[in-house]
Amino acid sequence: LKQVQDKERATYAARQDLDQEFPIILADGTERWIHQIGKITYAKNGEITRKIGSIQDITARKEAEDILRMQLTRMKTLNIIDQLLRKTEELQDILPQLAEIIGKKTGLDAIAILPYDRTIKKLVLGSTWGFHEEPLEKGSLSLGEGLAGRVAQNLQVIHLDVKNPNITIEKNLVDFLKREEVIEYIAVPMLAQGKLGGVVELFQRRRLKTPQETTNYIAAVAGQIAMAQNNQNLIRDLQYSNKELMEAYDATIYGWSRAMDLRDEETEGHTQRVTQLTEKMAKKMGIPAEELVHICRGALLHDIGKLGVPDSILLKPGKLTDDEWKTMKEHPTHAYEMLSDVEYLRPALDIPYCHHEKWDGTGYPRGLKGKEIPKAARIFAVIDIWDALRSDRPYRKAWSREKTLEHIQELSGTHLDPDVVTAFIELIEE
Ligand code: C2E
Ligand code: SIN
Ligand code: SIN
Ligand code: FE
Ligand code: FE
Repeated sequence: LKQVQDKERATYAARQDLDQEFPIILADGTERWIHQIGKITYAKNGEITRKIGSIQDITARKEAEDILRMQLTRMKTLNIIDQLLRKTEELQDILPQLAEIIGKKTGLDAIAILPYDRTIKKLVLGSTWGFHEEPLEKGSLSLGEGLAGRVAQNLQVIHLDVKNPNITIEKNLVDFLKREEVIEYIAVPMLAQGKLGGVVELFQRRRLKTPQETTNYIAAVAGQIAMAQNNQNLIRDLQYSNKELMEAYDATIYGWSRAMDLRDEETEGHTQRVTQLTEKMAKKMGIPAEELVHICRGALLHDIGKLGVPDSILLKPGKLTDDEWKTMKEHPTHAYEMLSDVEYLRPALDIPYCHHEKWDGTGYPRGLKGKEIPKAARIFAVIDIWDALRSDRPYRKAWSREKTLEHIQELSGTHLDPDVVTAFIELIEE
């Protein structure tokens, strides 16, 4: 309550209408996010005469956004690790740094990396991060010994609810987990070309919100380390390591695009549909095969910048005010800011960043004109408009096929690239 009052006081002082998002702590200690909207009327002497408004619990949305943000951070982390491994000759030297990178930035609690020593056929403790005390496995673990030893023997992930384990745990290990206050545990084998390179362990003191996604992340990291280890004295097989990483990334991107559509039920399936149509159009317009993958990623992520647009605007049933439009028009720039430092998404940025540019230069965010607009974005713009108009929106009903095609033809040469419109009409008629 105190936080609410402070906020209100600050707002009155600034003489603004209320429109804020902020966290509150309930009596039982749980945190909830609140969105407060209201109007304040002042008398001539500056006193408040009336305040009217509403508050809404937006915790679910905030949590979904936090998860997406975390996934983005993890994706960036995989990239940082990749770069670090590429310029390292002695893996051993950077293991402590690696353990910290894996855990710290990505919101995890404690990490242990245990490389497998082929000469003594044991796991050794390479490095740890985040523990209260010195970890147990000071010496080394034989295959089958302890939790990590079991993972190394069976080459399978172990995921444990520590209070309710589905396998037996050694007494000293139980005590260690208790002292470390660990409630959830994941261990993943480090594998490269099917060979054991070691084990990565995650120890959580707070329950994971997305255990499957976290397991995938740890597995991706483990794979990177194993690959680096394998190739330490050989020439790196870049292609191979890239392929595995790309597959993990693409699964993540697909997950985001689903999450974005879910935010607005009425556009469900929009992202998948526009991605498929864009790929067809791009092929039809002679875009080289190796660029198609970037175009598909770009289409899947085209409106990721709308994550920065509040529900009150995105889901508004009526026309937007000038201020609301200003916020809405920032979504391509948000996308650029979110994605541009992920190296492998950089070639996919054309669509998220430029899909609202117009052929005659009156679009946003940069007002690019004609062929200054990347071709992928010119193609995508037609398809986005087609699918948007063919669907119900909170502020209008879906348009008919004929009306939509007519509208698109009218936009040819002003909003849209005429060549793209011609190809699009052909494609729809096919
Ligand atoms: P969106 O719904 O994904 O629409 C993508 C693009 O399709 C729009 O870009 C626009 O070029 C076209 N389009 C969509 N609906 C209509 C329509 O009813 N009439 C016409 N003539 N064209 C349409 P634009 O205009 O830059 O809008 C970007 C985003 O802003 C939209 O994405 C939507 O999320 C939001 N938006 C646009 N207008 C409104 C509105 O009146 N109310 C609300 N609440 N949101 C709006
Ligand atoms: C959304 O509004 O959440 C995405 C759907 C779209 O691209 O219009
Ligand atoms: C918000 O998402 O900003 C608040 C929820 C709403 O007003 O729809
Ligand atoms: Fe958009
Ligand atoms: Fe769209």
